[in-house]
Amino acid sequence: MRDSNATVVVSGTTNIDTFVTVQNFPQPGETTIAKPGIEALGGKGANQAAACAHMGVNTVLLSTVGNDPQGELALKQLREHGVNTDYIVISRQPTGRAFIMNDPSGENIIIVTSGANELVSPAQQRETVDELRRQGPVPIVLAQGELTPEHSAQLPRLVANSDSRLVLNLAPVTTRDPDLMAAADPLVLNEGEAAAVLGEAPGTPVEELTDRLRTIARSVVITLGQRGALILEKGAEPVHIPAVHVDRVVDTTGAGDAFCGTLAAALAQGETLVDACTLGAAAGALATQKRGAAVSYASENEVRRLGEE
Ligand code: RIB
Repeated sequence: MRDSNATVVVSGTTNIDTFVTVQNFPQPGETTIAKPGIEALGGKGANQAAACAHMGVNTVLLSTVGNDPQGELALKQLREHGVNTDYIVISRQPTGRAFIMNDPSGENIIIVTSGANELVSPAQQRETVDELRRQGPVPIVLAQGELTPEHSAQLPRLVANSDSRLVLNLAPVTTRDPDLMAAADPLVLNEGEAAAVLGEAPGTPVEELTDRLRTIARSVVITLGQRGALILEKGAEPVHIPAVHVDRVVDTTGAGDAFCGTLAAALAQGETLVDACTLGAAAGALATQKRGAAVSYASENEVRRLGEE
């Protein structure tokens, strides 16, 4: 069942990503010569909004950029991806930047300067979401952990007393606020983040954490990379979503964001959580086939074709 009128609101960061490719990641104190790469739209909020819009869903991004060439480039590329940028605030701080190193296996190291993203106003976002609700249904509010913990603490208020569902990708784990996590449906984490939200050591097997994870949010989705994803819901057996295999990984940057944006879009389109995760897995796999974050995202047709195979 599709509601073509439905809007997904994404509250999150916008960056401009600068990519370089290295043969090997440098060690501390080492200098490495890199090959220059693209400069393009990034930020977990902007990426997830782009992935959501690629699924043909009305997508409004609530974010802040600087009054600078990077801000202009970000707004232009967001519009090209089909994202509604009408509510993006232009601030006095510079646009957020991410400096991304890729190695030949497609793995990356990312360093972010938040810039204008630090100025996002929760009160202003609440007013905007209320205004959007007066225009039509807002079934999903999608957010990430990349804004400040103070901002994240306000996210439950964006969905309180409404028909909206909070899809929260707590990446990175900047807070372990129990009220925030309890409002998420689903809370989306990778394996490292799943250990971190419970205060466990990195590398703790997710199988040891499932009982505790399923109690912290209304539903939890753990992305497992090449092993697919796991859905945890209270009082139900875990559901495993198989991985979608692709021949060769070029760049994993933004693949998790493709998963989350597509998942949110599919839920807004009335899909079940299982089907939404399957489509998310397909979108994530397709995003690894090209360099870059949002620029690597596939169309709805490509995602559905691979997800329904
Ligand atoms: O998830 C990938 C994103 O993380 C990049 O686009 C970068 O901007 C950082 O926010």
